[in-house]
Amino acid sequence: MEKKTVLTGITTTGTPHIGNYLGAIKPAIDLSRGDTYNNFYFLADYHALIKCHDPERVAQSTREIAATWLALGLDTDKATFYRQTDVPEITELTWILTCMCSKGLMNRAHAYKASVDANRDAGNPDLDDGVTMGLFSYPILMAADILMFNADLIPVGKDQIQHIEMARDVAGRFNHTYRPLFTQPEAVVDEQTQLIPGLDGRKMSKSYNNTIPLFSSADELYKLIKQIKTDTRTPGEPKDPDTSTIFQLYSCFANEQERLAMRQQFENGIGWGDAKKELFEFLDSKLSAPRILYNELMNDLGSVEEVLLKGADKARSVATPMLEQVRIAAGIRPLTYVAEQLSEEKQKKEKSAEAIARAEEGRRRGILMQLKPLLARVESADDKATAAQEIVADKMAEVESLKKKAKQKAQNELDVLQEELAAYL
Ligand code: TRP
Repeated sequence: MEKKTVLTGITTTGTPHIGNYLGAIKPAIDLSRGDTYNNFYFLADYHALIKCHDPERVAQSTREIAATWLALGLDTDKATFYRQTDVPEITELTWILTCMCSKGLMNRAHAYKASVDANRDAGNPDLDDGVTMGLFSYPILMAADILMFNADLIPVGKDQIQHIEMARDVAGRFNHTYRPLFTQPEAVVDEQTQLIPGLDGRKMSKSYNNTIPLFSSADELYKLIKQIKTDTRTPGEPKDPDTSTIFQLYSCFANEQERLAMRQQFENGIGWGDAKKELFEFLDSKLSAPRILYNELMNDLGSVEEVLLKGADKARSVATPMLEQVRIAAGIRPLTYVAEQLSEEKQKKEKSAEAIARAEEGRRRGILMQLKPLLARVESADDKATAAQEIVADKMAEVESLKKKAKQKAQNELDVLQEELAAYL
């Protein structure tokens, strides 16, 4: 069976945090180990421009995200790791898909609707206030990201499911209008990894300002962990691990045994200060090796750039021929392009020539089976040439003596005999 393609994009607007790591980066890297899938992972830097107009931040985030994935061990010889803007075919495809997407579909996009709702709630008479065309139509850019590589599985957060549905709609419309070139993608959502709590106990998210950057220095890491919200229970009082952010974060990195041991400590009444210290030491031990690598990469951005450009080459080797087919399907063709119908007919003819050849081969094999005893006789004769000549002469006489159908049959046998025994005749 052909390998399925897994694809996901990371918008370059922030610094990777522990929630990103557990929820997206680690599962994606895990999926790229082994040989089960083709993997396409990319920095969605054109997506960044939708919500972030701070150029330094976009540029810095792009560096950080690239270095993070590499520091965590993404094998870029296996997975295709690239920057969206290095593959201009994607934006070209975006336009073709834009023309396959009804405006009504985009009106229903959550991100756009949220802005409209916010304006309405604020009593703003301009419901589209603050909405750029980028925000409005970005599901189409995302569809292009996905459809360009005929991706099957798209690991995303819940908030992105709707966009994958939209990509399916757009693909369906293209396939129906022109030619079935696009695969229908499917969202893959891991409920469990969506629940990584941040410093205040809510889901860890840039928008809540409650994140722990994945590669903060050890000092910073400890400082942040000390800010995690706890209740007023004193040391010695048993604590509920299941409602504790400290325990949950610990669990995300722990194996079963470590988790049970920590649970026990909570039940035994570990003090919050000690629990935080343990969490810090545990996370630091897990993160210090990739952190060193991360810092090295951040000090050697030329090599990261090279990796991305190599990834872009790989991505374009898929994107270029795909876009070519899409353009041709839609009628964007060289003036000299031979109408597809004609070439399709030609293909059909070629196919039937191939089928004829195959049938002929089968027929010949059938005749050979019947002639086997005669051929064997030649093989075992002392004087092979005389035996072969006799057999062929007999068959010739047979052909002469027969009529019509039987004659044709014998003639066919004679032909095969003469081919097979050519060396002796
Ligand atoms: N929009 C996605 C997000 O905000 C990122 C993204 C861009 C993406 N293109 C994609 C995810 C293609 C999956 C597939 O999370």
